[in-house]
Amino acid sequence: MITVAHFSDVHALSLDGVSPLAFLNKRLAGGANLLLKRRDKHPVRLFEALLEDLDRVHPDHVIVTGDLVNLSLDAEFALVRSLLDRIALPPSEISVVPGNHDVYVWAAALRRSWQRAVAPFATSDGANEPSFPLVRARGDLAIIGLSTALPSPVPFADGWVGPRQLAAAARALEAHRGRFRIVALHHPPVKNRHAFLRGLRDRALLARVLRRTGAELVLHGHEHRDVRAELPGPDGPIPVIGVGSATYDDPRPDRRARYNVYRIADGRFSVETRVHDPRTGRFAPRP
Ligand SMILES: [Fe+2]
Ligand SMILES: [Fe+2]
Repeated sequence: MITVAHFSDVHALSLDGVSPLAFLNKRLAGGANLLLKRRDKHPVRLFEALLEDLDRVHPDHVIVTGDLVNLSLDAEFALVRSLLDRIALPPSEISVVPGNHDVYVWAAALRRSWQRAVAPFATSDGANEPSFPLVRARGDLAIIGLSTALPSPVPFADGWVGPRQLAAAARALEAHRGRFRIVALHHPPVKNRHAFLRGLRDRALLARVLRRTGAELVLHGHEHRDVRAELPGPDGPIPVIGVGSATYDDPRPDRRARYNVYRIADGRFSVETRVHDPRTGRFAPRP
């Protein structure tokens, strides 16, 4: 049996050493909004509790589907890297793809801030630097991670896979037929809420690839809530499972910080959602 943990949308906020100049762009609108409304919504202590819970669950592999940070600031990336380094697995067993907040502004995208911060977690087998699709094979498991992140003007939070990456992902999915293939991406590959502003632009093209190649499971984030869908595959429907935010501090049990644990054997999987309990400060299986 292979155990895979999936979490997303950590949104770690750190303004240590941030100059006001950093806000002279999209961060001005987004940053002010975040500071006012969201500062305490994604507290780091919840992510620390999640990391402690991973020590209890002992996954073989961890998948992280983006939005590690908020404003793509170097201080945020340094914070989140120090937290990811606490996971008791080598970087080769932690697979990270970017979300829209990880390339919040062009300056961060051009400086490749995200890639530099998480390089060992986003490097394909046999490669020596991050590239997408991220392709990793681990025994019966294959991970095909897609980057859907691109800087967009306010109020967009959309995503795009792009034809070059799609073609390479199709080749990887064909090459790993016979393994349990997990496709991991930030944006849902199906129509989501406010899709015009927040959706994956080329989701129809990705669906067309999956219909031909198949995949055993598609994992995503971005929605900050648990969602389930299906896409057609060559041998039946492909499950598409989105996980809520790993750090959301909310009294509603269905929105509270959570992550999913997949147990995979003989080509099948079961999924357990583990949710933060504010009374104990620990994550526990959803009742
Ligand atoms: Fe997010
Ligand atoms: Fe997002």
